[in-house]
Amino acid sequence: MANLTISNRSAADTAADALVLAIVAADQTGDGTAALAPGHDLPRKTVSHLTSVIADLELAGKVGEVTSLAAVPDVSARLVVLAGIGELKTDSTPDATALEDVRKGVGAAVRSLGKKQQVAVVVPGTSVELVSAVADGAALGAYAVSKAGATSTDAVESVTLVGPADSASRKAVKRAAAIGEAVAYTRDLVNLPPNLLYPETFVDSLAERIKGTKVKLKSYDMKALRAGGFGGTVGVGQGSVNDPRIAVLSYAPSRPKASIAFVGKGITFDSGGLCIKPANGMLTMKCDMAGAAAVAGAVLAIAELGLPIAVTGYLGLAENMPSATAQRPSDVVTMRGGKTVEVLNTDAEGRMVLGDCIALASESTPDAIVDVATLTGAQVVALANTAAVMGNDDAFRTRVLEAASTVGEAMWPMPLPKELRPTLESINADIAHKGGAEGGMLTAGIFLSEFVGKGIPWSHLDIAGPAFNDKAPTGYWPKGGTGFGVRTLVGLAESYA
Ligand code: BES
Ligand code: MN
Ligand code: ZN
Repeated sequence: MANLTISNRSAADTAADALVLAIVAADQTGDGTAALAPGHDLPRKTVSHLTSVIADLELAGKVGEVTSLAAVPDVSARLVVLAGIGELKTDSTPDATALEDVRKGVGAAVRSLGKKQQVAVVVPGTSVELVSAVADGAALGAYAVSKAGATSTDAVESVTLVGPADSASRKAVKRAAAIGEAVAYTRDLVNLPPNLLYPETFVDSLAERIKGTKVKLKSYDMKALRAGGFGGTVGVGQGSVNDPRIAVLSYAPSRPKASIAFVGKGITFDSGGLCIKPANGMLTMKCDMAGAAAVAGAVLAIAELGLPIAVTGYLGLAENMPSATAQRPSDVVTMRGGKTVEVLNTDAEGRMVLGDCIALASESTPDAIVDVATLTGAQVVALANTAAVMGNDDAFRTRVLEAASTVGEAMWPMPLPKELRPTLESINADIAHKGGAEGGMLTAGIFLSEFVGKGIPWSHLDIAGPAFNDKAPTGYWPKGGTGFGVRTLVGLAESYA
């Protein structure tokens, strides 16, 4: 993650390897010729040069369009990068969609600059919302995966925003930097290969990461999990030589305004277990701990920002493998809290670790619980890269969706229809862990709802689609782990602050 600052020096004089300038689309179609966005304060000669270049290259200003130019007159930076940010209206405060376009456009430009050491990005306006969006885009775009064992990455080293340097803007930049740092950690965890990241090493990484922060870590090993009655987690993890864990990260400021619990699915590799997945279905399954990684990132960011909110993250960590000790379809396990569950398909493992963690989280009666999980293929089919939000309380679900929209993470509400509850009935246990073929995303959510303590508002985020980008990089998303979910959880905590 790059070092992020803001300065009100002139764009032309800012010393940098590259100067990023936003260009806006003429209209929504993006068919017309683009124009330089405001806020740059460049000399007239430079502006007329850039204006004719934009016309000659027929640039449209579409979000994600990135054009690098050398030898631009009267600019200190060796390279000028034109970043399309879509149709930014300059006469009114930009709405959530426009701000997200700014994040994506700036993110794509900074991401494309790879190893450049110093990058300057001109803020296309003066509002703190715009400063914030540019800072977010730059922080999220300046990421490159750390290759296993390698000491450096291929990301931009430092980004200077050129714009208003008042205290509100500086605060927005600090926030973006803290969140960018957390998202980078989440992405790194997701990108680590599963032979290196398994429950024990996941906990080691957390222990290392919380050093010097106000976050505390507690973890349950296999013995403690058995003693604590975490039968769902033990059942999923028992087929692997790498034992499961539950990690609890907590941040407890004095006199908090609210207490929130985050629960994350942390399957460090999902082979499907005895109900083994086909080879292709396993290709991305190192990402099945992305929910737990997002929870870790969010708790760290909230502590770093010093929000007056108590947060506890419960990470359900296990490796789902087939073996002679693996759990079987038809096994009945006793979950934390005493409910018995009949396992029908060992590939529906996430809900088993989540059930234990949601029950554990409920024991401290937080003001709300949010779980984050790469839970179902059905979510991907239904919504692709838009996460699904379910829950037991419409007002709380709306609050989560508002936080998501504010930070620019795509999420959509989904129901938990009562009439699907009978599909979870079992003659051998209190409940079966899966329903029929229909509404697989919803019945998974209904199963989880059974472990939420009475009266606690709860939301369930199914992020199976957006957690991992196995296609080309886009906007501020790299290939691989996206860090999806971190920013919504932080935004939700901010909504209580
Ligand atoms: N980890 C998968 C869900 C998943 C699929 C995440 C694709 C990301 C991308 C989950 O554990 C799973 O296997 N779910 C099954 C449940 C089924 C057996 C009830 C599914 O969705 O097919
Ligand atoms: Mn599975
Ligand atoms: Zn899974």
